[in-house]
Amino acid sequence: MDPEYLTGIEEIDKQHLEIEGVAAALIDAVEAHDKWHIVHYIVVRLYELLRFHFTVEEAMMRITGFPEIDEHKRVHQDMLQTVERMKSATLDSDLGRASDLIKTQFSFLSHIVDHDKRLAEFLVANVAHLKR
Ligand SMILES: [Fe+2]
Ligand SMILES: [Fe+2]
Repeated sequence: MDPEYLTGIEEIDKQHLEIEGVAAALIDAVEAHDKWHIVHYIVVRLYELLRFHFTVEEAMMRITGFPEIDEHKRVHQDMLQTVERMKSATLDSDLGRASDLIKTQFSFLSHIVDHDKRLAEFLVANVAHLKR
């Protein structure tokens, strides 16, 4: 992972790394023209990881009183909706539409972790044991 995306919060970074790995596998599978069920399985895995990760982040935001929680949650919802669209598109044995969707969303996949910078800054400044 590009070091600029590291938050310095171990649990979040660990989850981001796993998500990034699955997103990279998804791009590889599409580029290798893998069969629909392989691509679909990877999208399902990505969706599950994201849902879990967002739940963890949203709990952290509630517990610590992060002021931008509503905006941050909206970003999570948008991402989940995008991956849900990928999920249904990959159920089609002709992956044309799904491939286009995944390829055009490439920047979205690589920026899944990018929007967390403000949350990480807030946590590091406000949570005692994370203070640098
Ligand atoms: Fe995140
Ligand atoms: Fe987030």
